[in-house]
Amino acid sequence: MKVLIVGSGGREHALAYSVSLSPKVDKIFCCPGNAGIAEIAECVDIKAMEFDRLVWFAKTNEVDLCIIGPDDPLVGGLADAMQEAKVPVFGPLKDAAILEGSKAFSKDLMKKYGIPTSAYEVFDDPAEALKYLDNARFPIVLKADGLALGKGVLICETLDQARNGVKEIMLDKKFGTAGNKLVIEEFLKGREVSVLTFCDGKTIKVMSSAQDHKRIGDGDTGLNTGGMGTFSPSPFYTKKIDEYCRKNIYKPTVDAMQKEGRPFKGVIFFGLMLTEDGPKVLEYNARFGDPEAQVVLIRMKNDIIDVIMACIEGKLSRVKLEFEDNAAVCVCIAENGYPVKYNKGHVITGLEKFDGMDGYFCFHAGTKKSSRGIVTNGGRVLGITAKGPDLRQARANAYEAVTWVDFEGKYYRKDIGKAIDEA
Ligand code: AMP
Ligand code: GLY
Repeated sequence: MKVLIVGSGGREHALAYSVSLSPKVDKIFCCPGNAGIAEIAECVDIKAMEFDRLVWFAKTNEVDLCIIGPDDPLVGGLADAMQEAKVPVFGPLKDAAILEGSKAFSKDLMKKYGIPTSAYEVFDDPAEALKYLDNARFPIVLKADGLALGKGVLICETLDQARNGVKEIMLDKKFGTAGNKLVIEEFLKGREVSVLTFCDGKTIKVMSSAQDHKRIGDGDTGLNTGGMGTFSPSPFYTKKIDEYCRKNIYKPTVDAMQKEGRPFKGVIFFGLMLTEDGPKVLEYNARFGDPEAQVVLIRMKNDIIDVIMACIEGKLSRVKLEFEDNAAVCVCIAENGYPVKYNKGHVITGLEKFDGMDGYFCFHAGTKKSSRGIVTNGGRVLGITAKGPDLRQARANAYEAVTWVDFEGKYYRKDIGKAIDEA
């Protein structure tokens, strides 16, 4: 089988790694990929939003399966374009990817089908939004409706902050057209957990849980990022919580999408808050998380191609998902200054130390090959990932491996997985 993976981050490297383990696969392409992915796949310089070129490439190279990693091409309709060209594709069609593409859509869906989430209102008129804030309770959460690189969510402690947020999102259009509509929602307290699931339109199968660390600084301080590290499983996601979520959140979501005429085939990523009143949905994503995929996929025992083909063919009910009875931790190494302003082009040393090290993984994100060797090429650079028999050992292993690599401007959080000690 020839498989094409679209994307260039740590998530896509983890996907390429999983795909490379399948005996059914003899060739992997990645568009555009990165220096790490290039070790296991042929990287081709076509960007994830160049739909025509991607479809042309898939047809010309007789690709048997296209796996779409990131949100933008999914929300933009790359799966539709592949399907029209008769290229088997893993990832939701545009109609279903709206689950991530519009926060107003997803909130209204949850309300309509009784899926637990925070109270909210949707606004398309900034004056109305400002008026609403006058009687609101703080902190309060403002969300730009559309995709905003994970930055369109503002948690506002005061009325002034919230007013300013409405201005930034709806009037100044800081996140472009994503701010044409605004969701204002109740602030929830609790522990966050990420749960990834496979869906074939009707059936949903749950992967092992994970926890992300979204803020740039230790102790969850500073700006939001794409994610600075993860661990899996989450010790706070108990069997009881899992049972509740399957019954009240996961299955109802897939059923709701089917009833709405938007059957979801692909990965639904449930961002949950475990509140005192039970788990509630913070957000849906229509894809694997990054860096959640890095810790979840390496623990999956199934051949990923079998699972993906079952999703595409509507046969997921026949699959039994199995995960190793261990743990994994991923520590992201970024360029100093990320997520605001950072340099690129620094030579990365020590990458060869991962060769032959069972249970240790160096997933590349922003890297590229150059005449000087492999250099940094983005904010998040590497996702150093390790397994262990339990979370503590996995964390110790990951932090040991973080010392193996170096580059000028190397930055990482020192407290990934600290929550484990509170479990
Ligand atoms: P989202 O992009 O919707 O996941 O939001 C980004 C982050 O903002 C989440 O991971 C949470 O940490 C936080 N967040 C979003 N919605 C809420 C909420 N209603 N209450 C508290 N925190 C939230
Ligand atoms: N790590 C969070 C995300 O992928 O959206």
